Amino acid sequence: MQHKSYHSSVFGFVIGILFTTWLLSNRGSQTPTVSTSSTTSTTSQAVKSTTLASVKFPIDNTNIARFYDEYYKYYELNKEWMKKSFLGVHFLQNPNDAITIAEILHDQNIDLVIETGSYRGAAALFFASIMYQYRYNASEKSIRPFKIVTMDINPEAQTYIDRYPLLARYITFIPHASVSEKAKSIVNRTFTELKPSNVFISLDGDHYAQAVYEELLYYQQYALNIGNYILVQDTRLSSKWHTLYCSASKYDGPCNGPHEGLNWFLKNEGQGRFAIDHGKEYLFSTHHKGWVKRTA
Ligand SMILES: C[S@@+](CC[C@H](N)C(=O)[O-])C[C@H]1O[C@@H](n2cnc3c(N)ncnc32)[C@H](O)[C@@H]1O
Ligand SMILES: *[C@@H]1O[C@H](CO)[C@@H](O)[C@H](O)[C@H]1NC(C)=O
Ligand SMILES: *[C@@H]1O[C@H](CO)[C@@H](O)[C@H](O)[C@H]1NC(C)=O
Repeated sequence: MQHKSYHSSVFGFVIGILFTTWLLSNRGSQTPTVSTSSTTSTTSQAVKSTTLASVKFPIDNTNIARFYDEYYKYYELNKEWMKKSFLGVHFLQNPNDAITIAEILHDQNIDLVIETGSYRGAAALFFASIMYQYRYNASEKSIRPFKIVTMDINPEAQTYIDRYPLLARYITFIPHASVSEKAKSIVNRTFTELKPSNVFISLDGDHYAQAVYEELLYYQQYALNIGNYILVQDTRLSSKWHTLYCSASKYDGPCNGPHEGLNWFLKNEGQGRFAIDHGKEYLFSTHHKGWVKRTA
């Protein structure tokens, strides 16, 4: 039941945003095109009084990229990304992408997640909730070991994580910068003790190119197996209209955001070993060209 209502609210949220975005992008232009199928009335009267549910808009392979560019601009500039929570904790993940992460965790039987940028720990709680389910051994009635290691320069995550003791025991929060010696040594120790079989890495800390590049350089060694992912979050921040991430260029890119840091890594140290997987973007992803798969 909980899963059902979570899925339907995610679906409703995405549809709502898509529709609002579409309306805004059509504001001031001509009347939206209405389907000309024989079952639909197409008089101008009918168009004006069309209810939300009956509006159809043309969206196909030729304009879907532009459509999502507009959607993302709205999502970012209207701070839609700040409006979700998970287990009552402010959750800075796009719902569409969160489900894709859950899919990877389960399908690859991930037993170690490394996350940079915990914020309040809601993503760590989300990962732990999913992992707890598939790491359960029904015949032994025990949880097969798993861990989430998450880190932030801001220490506030721990108090939110501690609200959920069933999950907190699987989450190691490190209140230090992602490439600090403290963080590196705790990740190393966790890895050595757990001996994980599959790792998922989510880079969601400092989003400037240099920081993302440095995280990739260090954390790439933990992408254990071919097929495991490093998710470089929020690559769409490298969009020309973004005043924070595009006021300067870096590493041959037009911007100074996650995309530039990732591209530089893929052209250099990561070349031949990591590649972008577009398949995980599933129609829309805030991490456009940011799902990086180990290939060798
Ligand atoms: C987008 S938020 C993370 C959101 C979180 N993953 C979630 O899904 O709710 C980015 C976080 O990165 C943290 N941060 C910034 N620079 C950092 C660094 N060098 N190392 C670790 N965390 C950093 C910020 O304090 C902020 O909390
Ligand atoms: C669950 O535990 C049983 C009994 O120890 C074991 O035989 C089985 O392989 C375990 N299942 C998994 C998926 O680890
Ligand atoms: C982890 O620590 C061990 C020593 O405890 C060291 O040999 C190893 O190189 C370290 N690994 C990394 C990735 O830092």
